[in-house]
Amino acid sequence: MKFETPAAQNPIDQLKVIGKPADRIDGKFKTTGTAPYAYERHDVAADQAYGFIVGAAIAKGRISRVDAAEAKRAPGVIAVVTTLDMPRLGRGRMNAAYLFGGADVQHYHQAIAIVVAETFEQARFAASLLRVDYARAQGRYDLAEESKRAELKGEDTDEGTSAPPLQRTGDFEAAFAAVPVKLDAEYTTPDQSHAMMEPHSSLAVWEGDRLTLWTSNQMINWGKGDLAKTLGIPEQSVRLISPYVGGGFGGKLFVRSDAALAALGAKAARRPVKVALTRPIMANNTTHRPATIQRIRIGATPEGKIRAIAHESTSGNLPDGKLETAVSQTRLLYGGANRMTSMRLALLDLPEGNSMRAPGEAPGLMALEIAMDEMAEKLHMDPVEFRIMNDTQVDPENPQRPFSYRNLVGCLRLGAERFGWSRRDPTPAMTRDGQWMIGMGVAGGFRNNLLTKSAARVAIDKAGIVTVTTDMTDIGTGSYTIIAQTAAEMLGVPLDHVRVLLGDSNSPISSGSGGQWGGNNSTAGVYAACVKLREAIAQNLGFNERDVLFADGQVRSGNRALSLAEAAGDPGLSAEDGIEYGDLGKKYQQSTFAGHFVEVGVDVATGEIRVRRMLAVCSAGRILNPKTARSQVIGAMTMGVGAALMEELAVDKRLGFFVNHDLASYEVPVHADIPHQEVIFLDEVDPMSSPMKAKGVGELGLCGVGAAVANAVYNATGVRVRDYPITLDKLIERLPEIV
Ligand code: MOS
Repeated sequence: MKFETPAAQNPIDQLKVIGKPADRIDGKFKTTGTAPYAYERHDVAADQAYGFIVGAAIAKGRISRVDAAEAKRAPGVIAVVTTLDMPRLGRGRMNAAYLFGGADVQHYHQAIAIVVAETFEQARFAASLLRVDYARAQGRYDLAEESKRAELKGEDTDEGTSAPPLQRTGDFEAAFAAVPVKLDAEYTTPDQSHAMMEPHSSLAVWEGDRLTLWTSNQMINWGKGDLAKTLGIPEQSVRLISPYVGGGFGGKLFVRSDAALAALGAKAARRPVKVALTRPIMANNTTHRPATIQRIRIGATPEGKIRAIAHESTSGNLPDGKLETAVSQTRLLYGGANRMTSMRLALLDLPEGNSMRAPGEAPGLMALEIAMDEMAEKLHMDPVEFRIMNDTQVDPENPQRPFSYRNLVGCLRLGAERFGWSRRDPTPAMTRDGQWMIGMGVAGGFRNNLLTKSAARVAIDKAGIVTVTTDMTDIGTGSYTIIAQTAAEMLGVPLDHVRVLLGDSNSPISSGSGGQWGGNNSTAGVYAACVKLREAIAQNLGFNERDVLFADGQVRSGNRALSLAEAAGDPGLSAEDGIEYGDLGKKYQQSTFAGHFVEVGVDVATGEIRVRRMLAVCSAGRILNPKTARSQVIGAMTMGVGAALMEELAVDKRLGFFVNHDLASYEVPVHADIPHQEVIFLDEVDPMSSPMKAKGVGELGLCGVGAAVANAVYNATGVRVRDYPITLDKLIERLPEIV
């Protein structure tokens, strides 16, 4: 089905099942430990052996020799495959560094060997016996230093944000020079790790030259193509199965070393082999969100109208790696006739940087939305009002191009009212609650809505049970549930009459899960397949397609009615189709919006920061399931608190690696860090987005949160921290005197 014109009234608008807070279908499996993750698939192949991956102990250089003799003699060892045993593997479209790189070491903990043994412990022990000689080379590990040599570069990420190397509208420099109120400030965000609960894991089974990989991956079709390319085998020979994913956040958009080395290990051992990356290898072996250095300049009239805005960002990566597109939201979020954005890539020999939840906007808004707070203060304006005054309903670089639907103003107004914003004292460090200095902060939230094609097959059997099959993944987001809701709505059956089969590359190709596009696109694909199935049923029964009704488990036309089971008949019925998009995504800017509000307390003596209240108001099209959507948003808000206050991969700038590569030292929020969180979804539909009239929401919940926390800390203390994370050492020297 081609979606080329705005969605008209359709069966989804009935909202009998869609829009209801249905419980997660997979919830009971996950909470009872019975959801089968890749590493736990003891049932799918006999005789499984365990693989243990060894990572390089240098960040850059060459491996001159590997002595595996002792490891091979160790108890239980079946095979040892080192990177010197074979030509360098191929490289997938999505990978910047090689997953198994030959003698060249491109980054610390790059995989250099896999040891396969009867048990995990035997494999791990034998791995410790490998003797590796390295020739270490000089590497570049200091972003601030290398940023001096960074060159302009554009990027179109596959995850929804893009920006050219340099974008100019009007004359920024002249306008900035001419306005009376201006800000010129630098902000930094650190490298961050996805730190998802389930480590990257794969179980590889070869049958002849055909490989089946049970794995944990967000994008089945990307993964299938890239794994084939990596191993140098035809795509048709690879099958990926990933029905349950214990979190990904972008770290599992791509195949990683667990997948490639499980396959190589299984080939060498002539046995099924499973591999899980251990926690301490994940931060340096896989990808991370790159650190940024961002300069923002904003100039406004005394009344608060932005006349000039510039955002420049530098991030680092391996030579073939991507930029963090931190300027992308600045192209669209606020008005102003004179604009400039630019991005630079500094070459680093740290592990590969790549997508992490809301790549681009997440770190970009951490900077931009502090800058907006600083500007509001210079203008003696309320920061909510300053944002509202500079709202735009058109693409500021291209004013002929409107937003499909945009209600940032509604998010900010309703948020201010519900949060009690009027109680905030705009003068910092004025509000106390015992030992706590209290502050409130606000930020605008923004994330693009991406349209990408997605297919599914929908079948009805003779019992009237509906089965939806697609290679879509559920990474903890609720895909199973909203896909079932879509089919139930379209075919007029109760939710428990729908079965959903996900995550198998033998199934029709879906959007996959990334860039907050999974919800809208995968359900739109299911919608398309259901439309086709409805037509087939009507035709079969000789019903007029125009007046046929699917409700209460029946197909009706005039005074004829049959149960869906009867309509399907003994052999059952099925249809396959997908959604494809015309140019509505180009003609209209499709984005999602939020107002984020945070209250913090800062201990007046120690500088300890506690988040006390959080509210997100979201404008993101139709909400398909308010319960799963809320869960996505509160999870993202939690991640935003982590980004503001805790998360930072510490770089060893001499030896070139992330030092705190485990969950003991890479801090993320725990339950005790997170207070009451409230989420409000504005009641809206966006008919430009798809027949579902929904948009992405899972990443929106993160975008802006970090700055809202930072702005609240400033309001509480009067200390402006522009370098994340905001740890107490950055506050304590500058806290007000205790009186
Ligand atoms: Mo997202 S970073 O595209 O999983």
